[in-house]
Amino acid sequence: MMKIGIIGGTGPEGLGLAMRFAKAGDRVFIGSRSKDKAEEAAKNVKEALPEAKVEGLVNAEAVEQATVVFLTVPWDAHQSTLENLAEAIGDKVLVDVVVPMLFDRGQPKAILVDEGSAAQQARAVAREAKVVSAFQHLDGRELQKVDRPMQGDVLVCGDHRGAKKTVMELVERIEYVRALDAGGLTNARYLEEWTVLLLHINKIYKAHTGVRIVGA
Ligand SMILES: NC(=O)c1ccc[n+]([C@@H]2O[C@H](COP(=O)([O-])OP(=O)(O)OC[C@H]3O[C@@H](n4cnc5c(N)ncnc54)[C@H](OP(=O)(O)O)[C@@H]3O)[C@@H](O)[C@H]2O)c1
Repeated sequence: MMKIGIIGGTGPEGLGLAMRFAKAGDRVFIGSRSKDKAEEAAKNVKEALPEAKVEGLVNAEAVEQATVVFLTVPWDAHQSTLENLAEAIGDKVLVDVVVPMLFDRGQPKAILVDEGSAAQQARAVAREAKVVSAFQHLDGRELQKVDRPMQGDVLVCGDHRGAKKTVMELVERIEYVRALDAGGLTNARYLEEWTVLLLHINKIYKAHTGVRIVGA
């Protein structure tokens, strides 16, 4: 059993991950800027999964309780959220799910990040954290449909071997989802940008797409 804290865990992506990990039997701490909102999200998880070990807390408390911390806030809150929580995160495993993007007249568009990617910015801000980039290609709304199998591969980037192994094991706690080692943290930009492409494909096919790598 893993103790998982989710910063910004009240949005579709964080909530979806909370549900899948709760379903796998992990202990989940949903973080929010508002304790009430976090508790409401935890209640929603319990409604879907009565056996879930889930709690709603403010972000800093969720981080403190966790051994693995997920970051699922919008890009424009990425840096400031990490600045506020870097001390609490310390040297824990930090899984960055954030995609630097915006909608330009309704069209998803990637944002270029000075550090190279959101995950590299995370490493620059939360300097002691073991940053891993992953989960950008699992759709939040699909994750929340816990009675249905989740499809797709999760590509995992990171420079800390132990942290990457921990996250790859976590990925495979979600039924039918496969983890693939996608190299070092400098590759995180490709994972992040690929999500923008998936959003375009989603619009064209009116679908919630993911990725599946063949041949590996
Ligand atoms: N949605 C998806 O399917 C999906 C898929 C792949 C990757 N992602 C990435 O995952 C991240 C989360 O996606 P999402 O759709 O769940 O996002 P979201 O709903 O826009 O935001 C998630 C949570 O972040 C918190 N938040 C919002 N503004 C904030 C601010 N200024 N400062 C601090 N916290 C703030 C909010 O929680 P509180 O108000 O409770 O604090 C909110 O519920 C994004 O970076 C997105 O690119 C999403």
